[in-house]
Amino acid sequence: MKSFYVTTAIDYANGSPHLGHAYEKVLTDVVARSRRQMGVPVHFLTGMDEHGQKVQQSARREGVEPIEYTTRIAGQFQQLCRDLNISNDDFIRTTEPRHREVVQSLLQQLYDQGDIYQAEYSGYYSTRIEQFVTERDQVDGQWPEEFGEIQEITETNYYFRQGKYQEWLVGMLRDNEDFVVPRFRQKQVLEFLKEPLNDLCISRPVERLAWGIPLPFDENFVTYVWFDALTNYISAVGYGTERFSDYWPVDYHVIGKDILLPPHSVYWPIMLHACGIAPPQHLLVHGWWTISGAKMSKSTGAGVDPLAMIGQYGADAFRYFVMREMTVGQDSEFSEELFLTRYNSDLGNDLGNLLSRLLNMGSRYTDSRVPAAGEPGEPERQVRAHWAETWEGALEDYREFLFHSALERTFGFIRGLNRYAETRAPWKLAKSEDPADRVLLETSLATLAEGLRLAGNALLPVLPEVCATLLDRIGAPVPEVWEGHMEWGTSLEGQGLGERTILFPRS
Ligand code: MSP
Repeated sequence: MKSFYVTTAIDYANGSPHLGHAYEKVLTDVVARSRRQMGVPVHFLTGMDEHGQKVQQSARREGVEPIEYTTRIAGQFQQLCRDLNISNDDFIRTTEPRHREVVQSLLQQLYDQGDIYQAEYSGYYSTRIEQFVTERDQVDGQWPEEFGEIQEITETNYYFRQGKYQEWLVGMLRDNEDFVVPRFRQKQVLEFLKEPLNDLCISRPVERLAWGIPLPFDENFVTYVWFDALTNYISAVGYGTERFSDYWPVDYHVIGKDILLPPHSVYWPIMLHACGIAPPQHLLVHGWWTISGAKMSKSTGAGVDPLAMIGQYGADAFRYFVMREMTVGQDSEFSEELFLTRYNSDLGNDLGNLLSRLLNMGSRYTDSRVPAAGEPGEPERQVRAHWAETWEGALEDYREFLFHSALERTFGFIRGLNRYAETRAPWKLAKSEDPADRVLLETSLATLAEGLRLAGNALLPVLPEVCATLLDRIGAPVPEVWEGHMEWGTSLEGQGLGERTILFPRS
């Protein structure tokens, strides 16, 4: 059976991870975990983009071999995945032989079928940034200072005839209106394709860039950035072997908006099509985290160190914040203040306190077991109806990648449970001698436990660790799939209520 195959972009190995990278991993992880909860077999790939000029430069600056440098950076990104509880099944590095072999076989195929040709290019070259620049890069008729000295040079390179597949791509996009999610971005791609496509330069001479994959038909050149990087999505799942069809075509490539056009929406489908491989099914495109309105990046330096935040508040709090705050596809401004508000109010007050209140009352008013629920009264009926509506909406949100909304609904329900606790006020009922009040007390604790069980199940993709603790404390299992576990009424009667637990220490 084919797996639901989902990938992240592979990060450049030229600096430490920042919030943007961490977000993309969490987002993709929530996609993967929610599909698994829906009972779908999932294969989740992430990895590292290790070749290229910038990496070569960074290594040189530190006086180490590029492979030594990228191995260290790859280690940091792998650690980030572990620290964030990312459930990836594989981590590909573009320096691995399994990757190089596939890149070279695609290049050879395209060369043999006449889709790759050699040509000379004359242009302005900046030695400082080691890149061709054009007059469009000039500011007021002058070359910007950061380009350093500009020389006019002629260079031979290899080019991929992508222009010849332009019509095919436009047709494919017209036939698959939801190829790019969210849809407004698909319109941008079609707009871009109104202009004729230039052929794509895919090589660099070895004397200028040694840190790349050699072209199989000319060892004086290595392949350049995108041809190498994009191919990871197929090299990691055994392109050329039988198992490839267990994964391909990929269901979703999760990427940031900066690498949609042209790499993922133009080069990649065309490269695949030219090689006789089916295009991806969808691209899920997220926006940027900004700080004071500017994209957070390595060069904005101070950025936000996700590892420090995880160390301080826990992986799940970080996961919750980024998923709750950002609507997939839109940009979002990061601020520590906003983070702390969510942390203290949603996680600490609404969820954390509710659990600790329940456990506390359990140990004071019962034998630390979930009591039996009596006949539901109006408040109980309201809670149940609220749950039914919440879950119907949240499940649909999970399907549609509206994770912020799934969280909003579920936390709305959790706040409803808090209100319910205030209404029934079990702490007051506990003071009464009336047996009817005893029934109400037990009913209210049972209702709170059941409500927390359902909320905990619903939040599993985003808060896997916290929910496992929460479910454990109320004696509920962690369901592998949602089906059969999301209806009100799976009685927890008699299950042990655990020790009082602080899920989110106040900050
Ligand atoms: N190596 C290429 C991708 C090759 S995929 C075949 C690359 N690397 S990157 O390290 O610059 O970016 C990796 C991912 O992180 C991209 O999807 C990018 O959009 C995302 N982010 C980088 N900064 C970001 C923010 N400030 N906010 C959200 N995500 C952003 O591009």
